[in-house]
Amino acid sequence: MKKNILVTGGAGYIGSHTLVELYNSGYKPIVVDNLSNSSLNNIKGAEQITKSKIDFYKLDCTDFEQMNKLFEEQKNIDAVIHFAAFKSVEESVIQPDKYFSNNIGSLEILINLMNSHNVNNIIFSSSCTVYGSPEFLPVNELAPFGKAESPYGETKQLCEKLIQKSEINSISLRYFNPVGSHPSSLIGDCSADKPNNLVPIICEVASGKRKSMQIFGNDYNTPDGTCVRDYIHVVDLAKAHVMAVNHILNNTKIKTAYNLGVGKGLSVLEVIDSFQKVNNLKISHALGPRRAGDVEKIYSDNTKINIELGWFPVMSFESALETAWNWEKLKNL
Ligand code: NAD
Ligand code: WQD
Repeated sequence: MKKNILVTGGAGYIGSHTLVELYNSGYKPIVVDNLSNSSLNNIKGAEQITKSKIDFYKLDCTDFEQMNKLFEEQKNIDAVIHFAAFKSVEESVIQPDKYFSNNIGSLEILINLMNSHNVNNIIFSSSCTVYGSPEFLPVNELAPFGKAESPYGETKQLCEKLIQKSEINSISLRYFNPVGSHPSSLIGDCSADKPNNLVPIICEVASGKRKSMQIFGNDYNTPDGTCVRDYIHVVDLAKAHVMAVNHILNNTKIKTAYNLGVGKGLSVLEVIDSFQKVNNLKISHALGPRRAGDVEKIYSDNTKINIELGWFPVMSFESALETAWNWEKLKNL
């Protein structure tokens, strides 16, 4: 019998890619999403890729009654992957309460329901933002939580602590910078209106939606002066969730966290340059001031997940940039 995995936020960017990998690995994903930052097209896309029907519940994870009904209906949930959250750093500064109530509220309800329905395993979507500006690079999981640069970052720290305190087996996956799309271009990032992240912004310049973009600061202590990040292909990221599910289902008393990055830092200028080369396009850009709250450089030590789960990134950065651009073109058709 297939194991049932409840995937909250499964219609979103990372969630939809994970549905495909779960299905391909023999799991049965059950999706809960309120579509506040995504589209049903991602579920349809995942169904097309896997040639299967995916159970989908349009529900808000902060609605206790409805979520309780779902747990009653789906009696045999083996594990939960909790993606559902708001993710805009910028918006979280303007509307912190919205972030605290959704990101923390949804997790509190989930833990409560998991306890009462005897569901013992959770994989949580965390972020490298929990480290703030780490003292040592590459950063490993022993580094302490740093000063949260935004209310969004604070919600991820608080959620990890909540999970840590619970009785449930848990794996927090600390994503670095996810980029790219599934090669089919049938699923991707459907985030509303205005992207804040670098690669989606580059794609908007490429498509003509924006005339130009700014590089936020070139006076950092990095080789070319621009900030350094660890960009990870979303398909590699999705596969790590399957390995985390395998691990948590085959072991008892798991309470851990893993970095999910490639382990290599790239500067903003290197990303723009690679995008131009890979897609044979010119990206109009100008130097601008630093963006408030930006960390100068961060990239992962991914040794722990290599050793304990056998996960290694295999997708190239070039393919991430190519598929990101393919998704942007198709999204706008
Ligand atoms: P996303 O916005 O594409 O996906 C999140 C999904 O959750 C969306 O489909 C949204 O509709 C849904 N959702 C939000 N609140 C909900 C609620 N109360 N009830 C039901 N559904 C709800 O974002 P993503 O990029 O796929 O991110 C997934 C997770 O990974 C989030 O927790 C995010 O904070 C975390 N994360 C993302 C990144 C990144 O750069 N994309 C980096 C680190 C961590
Ligand atoms: C990358 C680099 C910018 C746009 C955020 C969250 C983090 C995680 C991933 C969720 C930075 C520079 C960007 C532009 C630029 N999300 N940039 N011009 O800030 O590393 O991380 O998303 O958990 O928590 O903080 O990602 O893609 O926004 O920026 O120069 O128009 O690109 O300054 O150095 P970031 P990003």
